[in-house]
Amino acid sequence: MEAILLVGGQGTRLRPLTISTPKPLLPTAGAAFLAHQLARAHAEGVERIVFATSYRAEMFEAAFGTRAHGVELAYVSEDEPLGTGGAIRNAARALTSGPDDPVLILNGDILSGHDVRAQVKMHEEAGAAVTLHLTEVDDPSRFGCVPTDDQGRVTAFLEKTPHPVTNQINAGCYVFRRSAVDTIPEDEVVSVERETFPALIASGAPVMGYVESAYWLDVGTPEAFVRGSRDLVLGTLASPAMPGEPGERLVLPGASVAAGAVVRGGTTVGRGAVVEPGATVIGSVLLDDAFVAEGATVRDSVLSRGARVGHGAVLEGVVLGDGAVVGPGNELRGGLRVWPGIELPPTAVRFSADT
Ligand code: GTP
Repeated sequence: MEAILLVGGQGTRLRPLTISTPKPLLPTAGAAFLAHQLARAHAEGVERIVFATSYRAEMFEAAFGTRAHGVELAYVSEDEPLGTGGAIRNAARALTSGPDDPVLILNGDILSGHDVRAQVKMHEEAGAAVTLHLTEVDDPSRFGCVPTDDQGRVTAFLEKTPHPVTNQINAGCYVFRRSAVDTIPEDEVVSVERETFPALIASGAPVMGYVESAYWLDVGTPEAFVRGSRDLVLGTLASPAMPGEPGERLVLPGASVAAGAVVRGGTTVGRGAVVEPGATVIGSVLLDDAFVAEGATVRDSVLSRGARVGHGAVLEGVVLGDGAVVGPGNELRGGLRVWPGIELPPTAVRFSADT
């Protein structure tokens, strides 16, 4: 089976991490985020993937070439971003599938443990134009929701509302009949969520909802990115692309963790990164050459390349951009983001969302 992988977004919610690296290439549990998706897609029977690129397009081919994790790869780039639907239509010119073949479409920022083969089986048995993976969430008011009838057919594709009619939401993985892609207008900016799906449903085309609430995470925000990395390291979601066994921590070659340091909770320590004695790092992502000094505490945070945390400083739920420096004695909490290269002098900040 062939797939299209949507990877052209700017990843604005993940800034400053996405200033230099597109979201799908961010190092996650010791590999580029996409490596986990490619390996999982291969395990689910996908043989060829067309990347729909736009933002920093050249970095994808440089990272993966023409074959990776058992999958043959091709690249189609947009001069101007065409949105999710326009990107699918544009990338379809590189597909080799026949008109009735199923083609898988994947958002490039989703970690999902659902059964893709079962989704494709439902699609084929129903003779559907499109079959969406739907997942159930506790609070559907934060998402658009997707009701289905008792045959599994999608009855509406609804915008976000305070009173959702179902807790089923679009999980960002679709099976399209190859010919259904051609209903998307060519060379136009189109949103598959806001335009293509509502139009297909309104036209009476068979659109099915495959409901499975396996592990599912949209890594679009810093909190979710940290959680995704942690879940892969801990083995909550198994990934054939992880360079090591699941456990409390993943320490990459060339990293240095002092004997007296506490590093756990699914933390990744990147190449050349250093954690000094007496430091505590829990559930966090330390990218290459990051540094945590003696007595510092880092929890649920991301330290980008070369970022440094000084003696006794405390970080909780914080993102440090490339080369950012937090001087000794600072306390940073509650979603604070420090832009690349910024240096906070000693004890300059004592910030908590609660105070
Ligand atoms: P935010 O800016 O933080 O919302 O992230 P994003 O740019 O990734 O947008 P969003 O999460 O809505 O995108 C869902 C998926 O579609 C992601 O995998 C994006 O990379 C991809 N995507 C979004 N817009 C485009 C586009 O115009 N072209 C292509 N090729 N992919 C896109």
